[in-house]
Amino acid sequence: MNETARHRIVEKIRDLPTLPSTVAQIISVTNDPEASVEDLKKIIEADQVVAGRILRAVNSAYYGFPRQVDTLSKAIVILGFNNVRSIALSVSIMELFPMKSPNSFSYNQLWAHAVGVAHCARSIARVFNPRQTEQYFVAGLLHDIGLVAMNQCFPDDFINCYNSAIKQKRPLFEVEVERFEFDHADVSQFVADRWLLPSTLSTAIGLHHRPHEANDNDKIVYAIHTADIICKTMAFGDYGDNAPFSLDSIYKPAAKMIEITPEGPSGNLKKILAEDLKEAEGFVKLFN
Ligand SMILES: [Fe+2]
Ligand SMILES: [Fe+2]
Repeated sequence: MNETARHRIVEKIRDLPTLPSTVAQIISVTNDPEASVEDLKKIIEADQVVAGRILRAVNSAYYGFPRQVDTLSKAIVILGFNNVRSIALSVSIMELFPMKSPNSFSYNQLWAHAVGVAHCARSIARVFNPRQTEQYFVAGLLHDIGLVAMNQCFPDDFINCYNSAIKQKRPLFEVEVERFEFDHADVSQFVADRWLLPSTLSTAIGLHHRPHEANDNDKIVYAIHTADIICKTMAFGDYGDNAPFSLDSIYKPAAKMIEITPEGPSGNLKKILAEDLKEAEGFVKLFN
């Protein structure tokens, strides 16, 4: 992102939610391979809203446990550390942003897409970078957060871009650049930087539509970019611009690295992805 664009974002995108300490701490546990179940439990217990939401999620029909799960310790035993961490991250991040859109842009569809991309990115990590699965999950969850910020700050200009993109069957980010001189991926990266997320994450978020600009962290950048397009082609969430994307839109070096064939994901990834996206579907239902 160039300096002018950054300056424009700072000027225009005001009143972004700050990152509550609970979320910051969950993310830091996420990035710490030494972190324990106890560490996670302590953080969640200190935040009644997040704790309550996790228990509600655990007790929802989706997980189908015969008996009430009434403590976090039980939830962690039953669901496992990774699942509780993913739920905690998702609920606490979603809590930050308004659920009601000021116009016809659908936040429900956007969240469905974000959850799909988070799970898909995690599947890719499970096959190609298993030590960093949760980082990929967080980056997937947040990659399009800039859309919410832009829609809240400029509801009229943004909805015009959105309608033009659909009408002209073009990717939304292209139309955004014409109107704003920056796109939602820049804003997502801006939010991630403001929240002091690790730069590997914020770069992957910022380059999801420009993977060719990646240099050092191409693995995670390629994963988020590819996960985004896979979810668009599968219509996993559709906030408006799925139509212009096909598997062919995946940047060639990324498709090669992740072994995406013209038919789609191959080998182990194909199987893992099917499982994870099924989980993602259940996840989306939890929040509707
Ligand atoms: Fe995007
Ligand atoms: Fe996306």
